Amino acid sequence: MSDVVIEIAGLHKSFGSLEVLRGVDVRVRRGEVVCVIGPSGSGKSTLLRCVNLLEEPTAGTVSVDGAELTDPDADIDAARRRIGMVFQQFNLFSHLSVLDNLTVAQRKVLKRDKQEAERVARENLARVGLAEKADSMPAQLSGGQQQRVAIARALAMNPQVMLFDEPTSALDPELVGDVLGVMRQLADEGMTMLVVTHEMQFAREVADRVLFMDGGGIVEQGPPAEVIGAPKQERTKTFLARVLDPTHAVE
Ligand SMILES: Nc1ncnc2c1ncn2[C@@H]1O[C@H](COP(=O)(O)OP(=O)(O)OP(=O)(O)O)[C@@H](O)[C@H]1O
Ligand SMILES: [Mg+2]
Repeated sequence: MSDVVIEIAGLHKSFGSLEVLRGVDVRVRRGEVVCVIGPSGSGKSTLLRCVNLLEEPTAGTVSVDGAELTDPDADIDAARRRIGMVFQQFNLFSHLSVLDNLTVAQRKVLKRDKQEAERVARENLARVGLAEKADSMPAQLSGGQQQRVAIARALAMNPQVMLFDEPTSALDPELVGDVLGVMRQLADEGMTMLVVTHEMQFAREVADRVLFMDGGGIVEQGPPAEVIGAPKQERTKTFLARVLDPTHAVE
């Protein structure tokens, strides 16, 4: 197995005349946690969505675990199975129990039988601290619990890599910690993670590397102590001043 799990090379994405990604190169190694930070509209979500081809890149290549997804002959479904994705909105099926939310894709996509799917589901609910909520309906859970269910659902597919797009930004502040705690635990277990986040403390403590994006490109990257602690680029400094102290007038 190669050391590089995600390889993004020369990635461009335009929506009509709007160029959103202007040549992005990212390599994520096995077990690495990479946090992506940057202002609204800089292309962070688009970058993540290109990794599992929810968006089709205009140019460039994306490979996951050695398989090039952007190859016209690629088995996209097989490649996507290696990638777990967690969004800001949890997207649980509201009419299904928590347990059933975790078994649907396992049964449909991975063809696991009911017993095996439920075993894996319970194992992953325990992993996110929600073993006792298997029979609850999503509406009976807090936002933070729903997001942890969404994480468990992704994990139940045995992904090689997990993508997170601002997983805590729709949550009440007091619920953020539990979700970040689960993500921190995943990182400690060696999961390969690409995380778009505004949680600078989390990025500082958990990320191996931080990418600062602005205007559709990576402006600065490196260890969190450098990019967040001692940014070199003016644009990074301006952004950080704003997110670390929102009352600080920059412009
Ligand atoms: N499907 C789409 N069609 C047209 N424009 C889009 C589409 N998706 C994104 N965009 C545009 O691309 C740019 C980058 O969007 P993106 O969602 O990647 O930014 P972001 O960095 O994730 O921002 P935020 O921090 O607000 O989530 C924005 O100008 C956005 O309006
Ligand atoms: Mg976004």
